[in-house]
Amino acid sequence: MATNRVSSGINGLDELIEGGFPEGNNVLITGSPGTGKSIVGLQFIVSGALNGEPGIYLTVEEGRNGIISQAKQFGWDLERLEKEKKIVLNNIEEYDIDSILDTLEKEVKRLNAKRVVVDSLSMMGLFARDLDQVTKVVKRKDLLHISGRELTRTQIVGMLRKLCALGTTNLIISEGQEPADKIAEFAADSVIRVQMKPVGKELHRLITVEKMRGTKIDALPHKFDFTSNGIKIVE
Ligand SMILES: Nc1ncnc2c1ncn2[C@@H]1O[C@H](COP(=O)(O)OP(=O)(O)O)[C@@H](O)[C@H]1O
Ligand SMILES: [Mg+2]
Repeated sequence: MATNRVSSGINGLDELIEGGFPEGNNVLITGSPGTGKSIVGLQFIVSGALNGEPGIYLTVEEGRNGIISQAKQFGWDLERLEKEKKIVLNNIEEYDIDSILDTLEKEVKRLNAKRVVVDSLSMMGLFARDLDQVTKVVKRKDLLHISGRELTRTQIVGMLRKLCALGTTNLIISEGQEPADKIAEFAADSVIRVQMKPVGKELHRLITVEKMRGTKIDALPHKFDFTSNGIKIVE
């Protein structure tokens, strides 16, 4: 049976992966800070929303306003898309991973979402702490100041399985620096790496599809640029 493909929304990327992400895949986007992972995630959600596939963007990292203004420079009006019930910028209000995922499941049903972005894996790690530590915390804002635990293999596999059970196509963002990030690379269906590389006096931004289940991929690094309407692969 042919796999249904979900467009990445990134100009030039679908051509490298037989037309898009396999529907229902967990796709890991990995790269150092500032490489463009969150923008890739936003572009995936926005392009879906504009094409009849609602999406949920789950984060605490930059906060709502940061994401909204980041999106504006590419002409993406997240607040309007939210009003039109095409996207949800999820404000996490739970204290542990299981409750976050339970809420996500309800939101997916409410919105009939087809796409989910988890920004990021280290953010989920913040919520992987011992429950007795949590009960000592009075305010949520304090909670974010206690360090989380490194996600265990079991937690990562469990989380990916729950995400898969949603039936949505999911992008999970990872900084790739912690042991947990390496485990996630093995456990995810697909891995895409974004990098910055100085070449002479220029900075090249590269995107590489490292693996994708059931897909003949072009696994070479490709150069991408930021344009007024998002990321575009140029070479
Ligand atoms: N319009 C733009 N033109 C050039 N570079 C940009 C533009 N918008 C964002 N960037 C670059 O993208 C980076 C932020 O991307 P982001 O997706 O937030 O990175 P990450 O999530 O990987 O940390 C910025 O540090 C900046 O270098
Ligand atoms: Mg980011």
